[in-house]
Amino acid sequence: MEVGFHAGLSSYAFLEANPKALVTSFDLGFHECVGPAKELIDKTFPGRHQLVIGDSKTTLPEYRGNAPDVEFDLAFIDGGHRLEDARSDIESLARMCRPGATVIVDDILPDQFWGKGPSQAWDEKVREGVVVERARRSSEPSGDVFSAMWPRLGSYPLPRCWVIGTFV
Ligand SMILES: C[S@@+](CC[C@H](N)C(=O)[O-])C[C@H]1O[C@@H](n2cnc3c(N)ncnc32)[C@H](O)[C@@H]1O
Repeated sequence: MEVGFHAGLSSYAFLEANPKALVTSFDLGFHECVGPAKELIDKTFPGRHQLVIGDSKTTLPEYRGNAPDVEFDLAFIDGGHRLEDARSDIESLARMCRPGATVIVDDILPDQFWGKGPSQAWDEKVREGVVVERARRSSEPSGDVFSAMWPRLGSYPLPRCWVIGTFV
């Protein structure tokens, strides 16, 4: 599962990497790319992707209420980047993933404005014993994807860092 579908790049990667994987994405759904991206995913990977539209602070608990037996194996959190969003996503998914499931949180960049929320939420949940950190990964700063999505940023190379852990 993932929070943050946007242009569907991560969903596409999961579905392409593992032909047996089923992916459920949660997204606010207000970006224009969401509709065409969903169409492409459904055409390319028929029957393997579900998209739940709305604020994940509401839709994740609702989903759990409607499907209490579903336990996700892997959660990729790349939705709202404010502290309350990232914190809520980790808390909800701790209840919706099987114990030992892998959780990846994108944008662990405490020095960048968009990375403060995910970084603080992650550190809190590690301290509380909700998750165990296994690894941090980063890639070379890149402007390619971002300049395509947000041309006003130009080719400013953005640092990338994410964390990989397991739910307790
Ligand atoms: C960085 S993009 C995700 C990129 C995506 N993983 C990809 O590979 O294309 C973040 C997405 O999270 C969504 N989002 C932001 N706040 C959210 C919230 N509270 N609930 C659900 N989705 C949210 C945004 O609308 C946006 O589409």
